Amino acid sequence: MEPKWIQLPRLGDDRGGLSLAEGGQHAPFEIARVYWIYKTGAEVARGFHAHKELEQLAIAISGSCKMLLDNGSSKVKVTLDDPTRALFVGPGVWHEMSDFSRGCVLLVLASQKYDEADYIRDYDQFLQSYQ
Ligand code: TYD
Repeated sequence: MEPKWIQLPRLGDDRGGLSLAEGGQHAPFEIARVYWIYKTGAEVARGFHAHKELEQLAIAISGSCKMLLDNGSSKVKVTLDDPTRALFVGPGVWHEMSDFSRGCVLLVLASQKYDEADYIRDYDQFLQSYQ
């Protein structure tokens, strides 16, 4: 599968960096929730789920990590290491995050509030639904 990257505005100047994402514009959805993953050990892998409806944008606002994306037919592993570039993770995409650098902060913008019923956490069940 092809990863979908969204280039965010770069408004930095000689004072430093400034980037942003507006709901409905840079994020192709209205933003209902924001969460961030930080202080993750280099050996830790997390995620291991897909969503039924949730749309998300992931941005490594500091440091870097990797994300495996799997749509049931093919997989791709990408590196998030640019605070001006967002990775779109739509419904039906199994994802796994790993290789977190020291100090990595992964910011995630989500289209809906947290709902455990939207998660598919069993890989075989995911394949049955999306393969
Ligand atoms: P989890 O989905 O396991 O994290 P990841 O997939 O990134 O490894 O989330 C950890 C716990 O936090 C789990 O009990 C669900 C809860 N949680 C919320 O309550 N709200 C949220 O917005 C998120 C992302 C997680």
